[in-house]
Amino acid sequence: MRRVVVTGLGAITPLGVGIRRTWTRLLAGDCGIVSVANFEPSARWKELPSTVAGMVPRGRKEDGGWQASDWVEKGEERRMANFTQYAIAATEMALADSGWRPHRQQDKEMTGVCLGSGIGNLEELYNTSIAYQKTGYKKVSPLFVPQLLINLGAGHISMKYGLQGPNHAVTTACTTGAHAIGDASRFIAFGDADVMIAGGSESCIHPLALAGFSRSRSLVTSYNDDPHAASRPFDRDRNGFVIAEGAGVVILEELEHAKARGADIYAEVRGYGCSGDAHHITAPREDGAGALLAMKRALKHANIRPKEVDYINAHATSTPLGDAAENAAIKTLMLGEEGVEHESQVAVSSTKGAVGHLLGAAGAVEAIFSVLAITENAMPPTLNLRNADSGFGCNYVPLSSQEKDVNISVSNSFGFGGTNASLVFSKYN
Ligand SMILES: *[C@@H]1O[C@H](CO)[C@@H](O)[C@H](O)[C@H]1NC(C)=O
Ligand SMILES: *[C@@H]1O[C@H](CO)[C@@H](O)[C@H](O)[C@H]1NC(C)=O
Ligand SMILES: *[C@@H]1O[C@H](CO)[C@@H](O)[C@H](O)[C@H]1NC(C)=O
Ligand SMILES: *[C@@H]1O[C@H](CO)[C@@H](O)[C@H](O)[C@H]1NC(C)=O
Repeated sequence: MRRVVVTGLGAITPLGVGIRRTWTRLLAGDCGIVSVANFEPSARWKELPSTVAGMVPRGRKEDGGWQASDWVEKGEERRMANFTQYAIAATEMALADSGWRPHRQQDKEMTGVCLGSGIGNLEELYNTSIAYQKTGYKKVSPLFVPQLLINLGAGHISMKYGLQGPNHAVTTACTTGAHAIGDASRFIAFGDADVMIAGGSESCIHPLALAGFSRSRSLVTSYNDDPHAASRPFDRDRNGFVIAEGAGVVILEELEHAKARGADIYAEVRGYGCSGDAHHITAPREDGAGALLAMKRALKHANIRPKEVDYINAHATSTPLGDAAENAAIKTLMLGEEGVEHESQVAVSSTKGAVGHLLGAAGAVEAIFSVLAITENAMPPTLNLRNADSGFGCNYVPLSSQEKDVNISVSNSFGFGGTNASLVFSKYN
């Protein structure tokens, strides 16, 4: 089987634009969650039960801020959904980081894109619906459909760089980013491509999205006055997730291809496992059976024993049920393993305390954190974990980052509809 390695990273998160900025702030224990209570139109925002969100900071590139004009040509901005603009920017960063710029036809044919979004362009749909209702046919823009389709993120990236390899867009709610990276690694392993741009992007901090997630009783409601405390995975006082936006993109590459051009290798993609809960539209199975199956399959694919895993980046979104189900799954996976006598030996953190839940981008951004844990031998913290819930006895890296030799990391992602995926990364020696 052809081996797949990671040779480039790019991200835009509530902690800032760029990998270095995000990672440094993440390890420092910073939080990117803010209040949206005073956004316009105020009548719509103020009535929401949840008014906190992980927003990408706006501002100059030099200050780690987002400004579309830094990344997208003037005429293009209007043609691209916000999630596509984030994806374009994260891709440019990841390609620059990896040094891969295909110019020859054969290289363009062997470079592909696998990038999805969970929700896509809700705002365009909303605005157009209102204009259509009021004024009719003439108000529908010729760009309406291409603005709406989720695969146009991958499409725009391929057009910008002339990439003619597989062009694919996963949309599996909050598992999107992980599925995109896992599927892309298979395209390389099976010989469909030598290089894949893979990840997820999301930009739907819109009152209608918050209204919907509030109605499904998924969002945090108790910390509107204290945004930094709102996302608290594994904590006794957690009460829902914080919606967030951003993008994560990795460059995946066939090992010999990367070696031949002298690329720096961050880590190897060793395993990918998927499962379905077959249970409920939004709630997990209490015993975490779906999550357990995904992790087991990913480790089997990697040919790695659970006890060899040094760090798990949990999906844990700070919801009462979800965190408990995943915790149960991790305990079932790790305990009983020879050499793991006590759950305190298991290191797992959820970076959602710092960035919130990036929905379709979460799996990609968290895969990047799991890769950086390996290259930097550091585990990012779980913010706001002041009182671990009962039955929660692992090392959740509470409040402050920890140094550790991380050779193997696992990144979990779970989504509405009961879809679960795990990725396994290892140090490349
Ligand atoms: C949707 O309409 C609002 C209010 O008119 C406007 O501020 C926003 O920019 C529009 N969004 C898009 C994507 O056109
Ligand atoms: C999309 O981008 C436009 C232009 O920057 C902005 O006005 C709008 O609020 C953004 N929409 C969302 C959902 O972030
Ligand atoms: C990580 O790998 C290195 C080199 O293979 C090895 O020396 C070290 O013991 C490993 N660390 C852990 C925590 O397994
Ligand atoms: C698998 O996906 C479901 C669907 O949302 C998620 O809620 C759940 O946490 C995952 N499964 C388990 C048992 O953890």
